[in-house]
Amino acid sequence: MTDSASSGRKSAKKVYYPSNHFSQRACIKSFSEYQKLYSSSIRNPEKFWKAQASILNWFKPFTAVFQQKKKPFCKWFAGGKLNASYNCIDRHIALRGDKKAIIWQGEPEEDVKVLTYTELLQEVCKFAHVLRKFGVRKGDRVCIYLPMIPEIAISMLACARIGAIHAVVFGGFSAQALAKRINDSGAKLLVTADGSFRRGKIVELKEAADEALLQCKHVKRVVVVKRAGNKIRMKRGRDVWWHQEMEKKGVGNFIEPILMDAEDTLFLLYTSGTTGMPKGMEHTTGGYLVYAALTMKYIFDLREEDVYFCTADIGWITGHSYIVYGPLCNGATVVMYEGAPDAPDPGRFWKIVEKFKVSIFYTAPTVIRALAKEGEQWPRGHELSSLRLLGTVGEPINPESWRWYFNNIGKGKCPIVDTWWQTETGGILISPLPGAVPLKPGSATVPFFGIEPEILREDGKKAKAGEGGYLAIKKPWPGIARTIWKNPKRYVETYFSKFNGKYLTGDGAMVDEDGYYWITGRIDDVIKVSGHRIGTAEVESALVSYPGVAEAAVVPVPHPIKGEAIYAFVVLKKGKIGDDELKLKLIEHVKKEIGAIAKPEAIQFAEGLPKTRSGKIMRRVLKAIASGSAEVGDVSTMADAGVVEELKNGASFVQG
Ligand code: WTA
Repeated sequence: MTDSASSGRKSAKKVYYPSNHFSQRACIKSFSEYQKLYSSSIRNPEKFWKAQASILNWFKPFTAVFQQKKKPFCKWFAGGKLNASYNCIDRHIALRGDKKAIIWQGEPEEDVKVLTYTELLQEVCKFAHVLRKFGVRKGDRVCIYLPMIPEIAISMLACARIGAIHAVVFGGFSAQALAKRINDSGAKLLVTADGSFRRGKIVELKEAADEALLQCKHVKRVVVVKRAGNKIRMKRGRDVWWHQEMEKKGVGNFIEPILMDAEDTLFLLYTSGTTGMPKGMEHTTGGYLVYAALTMKYIFDLREEDVYFCTADIGWITGHSYIVYGPLCNGATVVMYEGAPDAPDPGRFWKIVEKFKVSIFYTAPTVIRALAKEGEQWPRGHELSSLRLLGTVGEPINPESWRWYFNNIGKGKCPIVDTWWQTETGGILISPLPGAVPLKPGSATVPFFGIEPEILREDGKKAKAGEGGYLAIKKPWPGIARTIWKNPKRYVETYFSKFNGKYLTGDGAMVDEDGYYWITGRIDDVIKVSGHRIGTAEVESALVSYPGVAEAAVVPVPHPIKGEAIYAFVVLKKGKIGDDELKLKLIEHVKKEIGAIAKPEAIQFAEGLPKTRSGKIMRRVLKAIASGSAEVGDVSTMADAGVVEELKNGASFVQG
């Protein structure tokens, strides 16, 4: 990369151009090449996607590229038959059978496992047999509640092989949260583990699963991976050990991948929205896989010899698309890490990079901020020269962290792809192509092929350059979630009703005079805490389910490491006393209801909440109060403006 301050601007506006060295070997080598391909993808999307779909092996070709009979629902590659596990594994065997598919690093340093593509195929087939034996058939849902161990990828691919729909639930979610998701999905089998290691301690997953299953009567079978060796209870007739099942008679090393229709559901992944109930986003086999594979190839500029390390958890969409499906579909070598970034010390990621000679590293801004705070000695203590490309995802990156990452990790030579996307989008929608697009720290830059973003005003008209607005996407792309599981009405209302059929992202953004996108963050009731997506309504309903709580309102506050943190206003029932002990109890309760990721950073007890005359909570006002801002804006519509002063006084107390 070379720096150049564009004419007359301050260094804060510095643009970073890809080096010739990088561009020459890149998939897309120049901005004009990007522009040419981009405009052809927009001018003639069907032609473009028809050609790009050849990134996959199809058992039977599709008959139509794109169909939209009943807007906003759509179909991609209809009539085409394929199998995701075949595309991620079998088709690589002839060329790359002995190539490493997964390099797994456990949190304890000595725990390393490597699976070649041939070995991965065997494990996936064996587990597919196990699933079949337990009655799992095409279209059945399988819930996966596992830590970052190879079995999580193996079980996803085994589901895909036999047409079962996986619903992975992040291992950091609590028993209650797990139960909600299992019940909504209707899963009949659960895959979990005894426990896993995090900061040297054991996270008791099976215990949480047992508690969840008390509420999930239709789960008839639980397959348990032995990972941490902690003592667990096995329920007779329901629970079986993974390792024992995999060795049983009849569990062969191969099973035919079944033919899936392009529009058959590959997986459900729950994500937070504006109500207490998370949404099971439904992704398909053909469109999702084409999109994940293609974005992986171009945005990460994949080469055969790359070693790719994404630090996300597979329980989130980033892990689905860019640890499992995208990289494996491209025959890449993927590094998977079980533990915490600071275990045993803040040099852990850099140690992994050095140990496995990682060439592409993909993480979240929150991780960069947390590690930057620990000082440069950590990356300096490791050999990072294998790196050639860096990436970020999950929240906006502040230019200061971008530069720290660029200089201290990339040593000034690795482009950074700031990738903007969502659970709903299946894959990255806005991002630089690293050999082609000059970088501006803090901007996700330009749209991927086939993507037409728009910045809209409240009335649906397009905003001008430099003017903030709603980020919407004009037309569907292959990776878009097709619906919300069992709730198509919510799908239409949430995403397509505000702007006349255009996809509403929930983010605010701005385009600059060069056509670069700057994402400013969520403008709905979703909070990104350390890059994790949490719905304010989920936290509020957890809080009000605690005895003595009358009402709660949750808003984001800026946080130097987490990006955003959760600030909760709690109104107690008459006669209840809000003290520090109750605050701790409430925090514990939220952990129990959702998980540690959702616990409020601060709780403020209040006499009342600011409401409009029609009874709507004025979150804008609460947000300002929580952030300690003196200006709360227009309160003329408020029913009782006196509430604000009282809340302001309470807030300064909370912030100490
Ligand atoms: C935010 C994660 C700014 C955004 C893949 C989005 C980002 C939400 C970026 C989706 C980025 C993701 N810059 N913001 N590069 N990437 N976001 O569903 O607010 O967990 O709407 O998917 O993360 O979160 P989700």
